[in-house]
Amino acid sequence: MRIPSESEQAKRSGAQTCPVSGIGAEFDPFRDPYLSDPYSFWARARREEPVFYSPEIDYWVVTRYRDVKAIFADPKTFSASIVQNPIAPLSPKVVAMLREGGFGAVPAMSNADPPVHTRIRKFTGQPFTPRRVAHLEADVRRIVTRYLDSIVPRGRADLVRDMVYELPVLVLFIFLGMPEEDVPRIKSWARNRLMLTWGNLPEEEQLKEAAGLLEYWRYSKQHVEKLLDNPPDNFVGDLIRGRGGDDRVLSIDEIATVVYGLLIAGHETTTSLSATAIVRLLEHREAWEAICADPSLIPNAIEEVLRFDTSVITWRRRATREVEIGGVKIPPDAKLLLALGSANHDESEFPDSRRFDIRRANAKDHVAFGFGIHYCFGAPLARIELTVILQELSRRIPGIRLVANQKFEYSPNISFRGPKRVLVEWHVSRETS
Ligand code: HEM
Repeated sequence: MRIPSESEQAKRSGAQTCPVSGIGAEFDPFRDPYLSDPYSFWARARREEPVFYSPEIDYWVVTRYRDVKAIFADPKTFSASIVQNPIAPLSPKVVAMLREGGFGAVPAMSNADPPVHTRIRKFTGQPFTPRRVAHLEADVRRIVTRYLDSIVPRGRADLVRDMVYELPVLVLFIFLGMPEEDVPRIKSWARNRLMLTWGNLPEEEQLKEAAGLLEYWRYSKQHVEKLLDNPPDNFVGDLIRGRGGDDRVLSIDEIATVVYGLLIAGHETTTSLSATAIVRLLEHREAWEAICADPSLIPNAIEEVLRFDTSVITWRRRATREVEIGGVKIPPDAKLLLALGSANHDESEFPDSRRFDIRRANAKDHVAFGFGIHYCFGAPLARIELTVILQELSRRIPGIRLVANQKFEYSPNISFRGPKRVLVEWHVSRETS
């Protein structure tokens, strides 16, 4: 997150110029029914008003595939500067608390524009060398096996709590060289950050979340500072060596911000996608049985999960000038909410888009990882994690099924989506190895 200035918090981007349409007034992103099913609302928006203004969040919402992709492809007209800003204004007390607490995240990756983004991404762009990928895949398999050894004899589990909640952060800790015992703290701080940046909280809850956020920032910064004199052979070590002691090349705050960013980008997303993948595949039993019979279907099944129900359903940009999107005139400085989940269901790109089809030929054309210069840098890691989880789960518990009549709950925030619990069961004696 970045602390927005007072004028940024006060500025509204569209209300003065736009008559609020029916659909914009109905957009209610922090509550049900949208939280449980954003797709029905988006289908209507794509049909009736594909680009609309939302007075509740003061954003222009863009729902069609071609518009979203065109925005990602034009970083000059569409700045990424706001992607880490709180979606709902922070209370002045919280802003003061963060400032006084030394919160120092700077624009570094997802919220930096060229040339800063180009300079930093040059160092962070290729962390997944074939050697590191092979190591990480082995680590992921070892951790998944450890979880499965513990849950398989039980015959019943909440796969979020018992497997995918901690798994991605454990892998990320290996990647960043952090100690495993810190995982629970990081998971809880990440939740603080998620709700403060992408949720819509009253002041007293903001203050609580901000305290965790500050600790989270200090932890990231200290981790980098500890390694400065003796950079290890890992991603953080690469960044420290790359800067060669020169802040103009890469500052310590920039490295700390990258680490701080990864500590959420690299696990909340993958935890949620893993949980969703399991739900979607088990709901579509024929798809689950197909991957059990033929694991070579898993990579495309993962692309279809990303298309069908991604874990980052919206992302953001700011228009740097007056511009037309889908025939709608957008004022300069307007904030844009790109509905990635909607773009991935756009019929003009994905025919019969509400059908979950693990053999869909163009599933991988989704925009779940963004597009262009900010394309998700962790996509290879997310794909490895998902592949190993599905390989091991389908091999060891092919008879697994969802506990009947459970309702999936989603956290009330605008961008990150995944079920909080996934209850599953299986017969222990016959089906498990
Ligand atoms: C299923 C899992 C994931 C999803 C759905 C996802 C999604 C996204 C999206 C939508 C963006 C914005 C792209 C854009 O602006 O064009 C992004 C950027 C990014 N992601 Fe991911 N992500 C996932 C996993 C990861 C992982 C595992 C990591 C790190 C290990 C990661 C690190 C990043 C970073 C650093 C950026 C910013 C890149 C830049 O600005 O140059 N993500 N991701």
